[in-house]
Amino acid sequence: MVLVSRIISNCSFVDLENAANSLKSGSLVTFPTETVYGLGADACNADAIARIYSVKGRPTNHPLIVHLASIDALGDWAKDVPAYAISLARTFWPGPMTLVFNRGVLAGDFLTGGQDSVGVRVPNHPIALGLLEAFAKVGGKGIAAPSANRFGNVSPTSMHAVNEELGKYLAEGDQMLDGGECDVGIESTIIDCSGDLPKILRPGSISVQMIQDNTKLIVGSTVDSPAIRVSGSLASHYAPEATVLLDQPPIKGQGFIAMADIAAGEGVVRLASPKSHEEFARVLYSALRNADERGLETVVVAQPKGDGIAVAIRDRLRRASSVNHI
Ligand code: TXA
Ligand code: MG
Repeated sequence: MVLVSRIISNCSFVDLENAANSLKSGSLVTFPTETVYGLGADACNADAIARIYSVKGRPTNHPLIVHLASIDALGDWAKDVPAYAISLARTFWPGPMTLVFNRGVLAGDFLTGGQDSVGVRVPNHPIALGLLEAFAKVGGKGIAAPSANRFGNVSPTSMHAVNEELGKYLAEGDQMLDGGECDVGIESTIIDCSGDLPKILRPGSISVQMIQDNTKLIVGSTVDSPAIRVSGSLASHYAPEATVLLDQPPIKGQGFIAMADIAAGEGVVRLASPKSHEEFARVLYSALRNADERGLETVVVAQPKGDGIAVAIRDRLRRASSVNHI
């Protein structure tokens, strides 16, 4: 049974201190970020990290992102940090960008899935930052947090969605912090910074163009190195129960997600009508969840065209529409 008292709304400073203490004692805390909600644990505590994997149902060789309160903590977690990565971090942190480096002293095998690299990010959300700061005050070094969904499912962008996904898997002492709807709505851009050039491993709202403008370097392709495991790069991921079909006319009884200027026929269940690509990203996951809540069998999505965040939206939709649901 889910205990209502475990959900903390309107987080106060004291609530964040309590949540930080819970993390320090090995419990899990779900929290909002500007991208999606995360399932957090003390990044130095192997037992707590093991619980993340079991609560998510995620294979233990898939690495977790370490969340930090500021760039100042980077040295503990990463080594061989190139100048272009410092420039990216100074420009886009706090923000929806994860940088992957050769791992530093604190990044244990239990966190990195045994890889020699580690992903780090400073999130841009008052509750996430408040929690990270409170955690640092009690001696915490960083909070490991994957998206707060079961493995392969759609990431949660609201407290309600977190509870639906994980509520029944959490234990006494764990907490869920409510921060309303996430602003960006899709996961952070992941950039491999272990080489001479930045390379995008997962597109997000920080686009190729933004990275190139900042670093003056040509950004590598999104083709993943086989040596690097990015679970979000599996063919099927971010998938609802409903079958997702792309770029075809929806028929009666099917769900439909498309830009507001694209009309739908009679009997089609309109799930979202965003007016910009940013809004498309913000509402996409809640619209896919809504399809499942309504028991729809099929959702048709008209993909946004062009560059920028549209690239990331199409990446997620391609995976959500893969037939091999995990
Ligand atoms: O926006 C986000 O990034 C959210 C919020 C909560 O911060 N987090 C998130 O975490 O999406 P997760 O675990 O659901 O997805 C992170 C992705 C995974 O596909 C993981 O494999 C990859 O990042 N990743 C983590 N560490 C990595 C590393 N060292 N090398 C390559 N990929 C890594
Ligand atoms: Mg995820």
